[in-house]
Amino acid sequence: MEKIIITGGNKLRGEVNISAAKNSVLPIIVASILCPEKIIIENAPMLEDVVVICDLLRELNCDVDLSNHNGNLNINTENLRPIDTNCELIRKIRASFLLMGPMLARFKYCKLSLPGGCNIGSRPIDLHLKGLKALGADISSGHGIIEARAEKLYGNRIYLDFPSVGATENIMMAAVLAKGTTIIENAAEEPEIWDLANFLNLMGAKIEGAGTGKIIIDGVISLKGISYKPIYDRIEAGTFMIAAAMTNSIIKVNGINKDHIRPLMEKLKECGIIFIEENYSVIVDGRGIKKPVDIKTMPYPGFPTDMQPQMMSFLSMVEGSSMITETVFENRFMHVAELARMGAKIKIDGRTAYVEGVKCITGCEVKATDLRAGAAMILAGLVAEGITEVKDIYHIDRGYVDIEEKIRKLGANIIRVQE
Ligand code: UD1
Repeated sequence: MEKIIITGGNKLRGEVNISAAKNSVLPIIVASILCPEKIIIENAPMLEDVVVICDLLRELNCDVDLSNHNGNLNINTENLRPIDTNCELIRKIRASFLLMGPMLARFKYCKLSLPGGCNIGSRPIDLHLKGLKALGADISSGHGIIEARAEKLYGNRIYLDFPSVGATENIMMAAVLAKGTTIIENAAEEPEIWDLANFLNLMGAKIEGAGTGKIIIDGVISLKGISYKPIYDRIEAGTFMIAAAMTNSIIKVNGINKDHIRPLMEKLKECGIIFIEENYSVIVDGRGIKKPVDIKTMPYPGFPTDMQPQMMSFLSMVEGSSMITETVFENRFMHVAELARMGAKIKIDGRTAYVEGVKCITGCEVKATDLRAGAAMILAGLVAEGITEVKDIYHIDRGYVDIEEKIRKLGANIIRVQE
């Protein structure tokens, strides 16, 4: 097991380059099975989740070359075989449930183990299944397995009770090869949905409205192989913005689409952070006096739930009272206990956390309870007095490329060691 050790107190300076978005790349890799031709994903991030999904495709007889030094990921799914539910890798990451839509589109059959719950909530899949049923799939479940089959998939009108990112993606991927038109209403509007649709459209799909609440998909007969560069990771960019804010530093974040990260930038501006915007970069000036703010996580374009733990870490040290309400996941406050060990003053009442900013937090041994919570602990370690040891960092490696190297290059005292 590895851990990250940070000696707090250093200022940051310089530039950091943001990697491609984990939440775009995973569905795009999965969507490549819709077409039995060569797909190239440019600038693919070497993340643990990406490695697992690539291993899974390899186990299903696909050619996947991830080791290419130019950062390109080459995928050829010509010899893809249907999934075998004994496959351990399926249970390793939740995103593997995204295989259901494209597998159904390609083989008219898919059998998958139910994804487990995770630290941040129960994470049901009812909306995925509702959508696939509406497209004509017969779905049965038992013994932890979901089995879906269809003679043919037909377009339909689907209303999502909640704008779920995963359900929107799964349905969209199944619908591109269905007969007729599918309309997804109350669809998720996240930039990663737009990115997946853009990828599919370049392959020959006919999708309109992705990135809005109403997506219209006209089914096509087949798709063709392409080369594609996914969008940058807005959550990684946001994490570095908060690093600058917490350490009273000025840094440049390269690889940013400001529109994607606007909900966070506007909140940080309210706190007193200054941004100088360039084309695909932002200079973040976190040297000013900080003010507390209230936050409510919401589906995009609301404040992202994936930035909530990092923002809580920041607000823990902003003088005054801040209130953080988590509306997307029912159990996404696991990091509160860890921050409290470092001296943060946070009380939870249901889905709301009340944060009373303290002048100083102190380093100690803490756990990455999930991916973004792990990032929050690293951020806290950057400003804590003394040494912070972050354990269970495999969570962090699922979603951040070389996080300690990128932060160390900015001037922090941070290392990764074997326990
Ligand atoms: C995706 C992101 C994750 C992010 C989340 C919300 C990926 C790989 N992961 O996860 O990083 O935190 O969006 O922005 O892209 N829900 C249901 N029924 C369903 C599906 C979801 O009730 O069938 C609920 C969930 O329990 C949760 C909410 O909808 O409360 C949001 O989940 P969803 O948008 O589906 O998140 P994911 O796609 O799992």
